[in-house]
Amino acid sequence: MYICVCHAVTEKDIKKAVGKGASSISRLSELTMLGTQCGCCTEHANQVLHQCANKP
Ligand code: FES
Repeated sequence: MYICVCHAVTEKDIKKAVGKGASSISRLSELTMLGTQCGCCTEHANQVLHQCANKP
C-alpha cells in the first residue's frame, strides 16, 4: 500500500528504511523522499514508522 503517493513510497519501503536505521520522519524522508512534496503523508508515515519500530 502506498503511504506517500507523490514519491510512490510503500509500507514495505518504510519497513526497509527502518531496517536501515531510520527512526524519525526526517531520516525516512532522506532515505525515501517521503513527505518532501505535498506533505500529506507524514502523519500516516509516522504511524507506520512507529508500528515498524515496535515490531521485533
Ligand atoms: Fe507524500 Fe505528497 S503524499 S509528499
